[in-house]
Amino acid sequence: MKRVAILISGGGSNMVRLVETMQDEGYATPVLVLSNDPAAAGLEKARARGVEAVAVDHRAFGKDRAAFEAELVKPLLAADPDVVCLAGFMRVLTPDFVRRFEGRMLNIHPSLLPKYPGLHTHQRAIEAGDAEAGCTVHEVTAELDAGPILGQGRVPILPGDDADTLAARVLTVEHKLYPAVLRRYVTGERTPVEL
Ligand code: GAR
Repeated sequence: MKRVAILISGGGSNMVRLVETMQDEGYATPVLVLSNDPAAAGLEKARARGVEAVAVDHRAFGKDRAAFEAELVKPLLAADPDVVCLAGFMRVLTPDFVRRFEGRMLNIHPSLLPKYPGLHTHQRAIEAGDAEAGCTVHEVTAELDAGPILGQGRVPILPGDDADTLAARVLTVEHKLYPAVLRRYVTGERTPVEL
């Protein structure tokens, strides 16, 4: 059974969906939830579901990304994951860190990549007058939000939407897309999922 570690920064609703589908369906084993923020609400949600949850506070390392990652990698290597899922993990990882997990690290991003890498994706889609928005699961490479696409989910942008209403609509599709991609990824299937 493939072992899956999940990195979060906040509420962890995508992490919860990944953990629950793995536990319900048995397609993989969630072995660790790791956060850069000790106050991340997702940590308790993981523990409540019987998954080890650990934080490495990035603020203790100032601007020294390499020093932060040197600590972050310790519990991750100890958990010995086959796949690492970034799920609302809001720290940019260095190329060195990415290289250690390249080919087995996924990310979910709240836009239809290659549109809108980075932050404020929903606001940018609304301001551009786009008719639709969505989310992308992709393999993580050294370039931010640019790795091979493994799946996308689409929603309409409706009249009167603001960034919050659109984010909520996209999040419901994220919760379907990420498990759908991971379920296939652990079997070696790489053809993109379309939702
Ligand atoms: C999700 O919308 C995810 O796509 C986004 O953060 C949210 C986390 O929600 N990720 C990024 O913006 C990554 N750059 P969650 O903690 O409830 O899963």
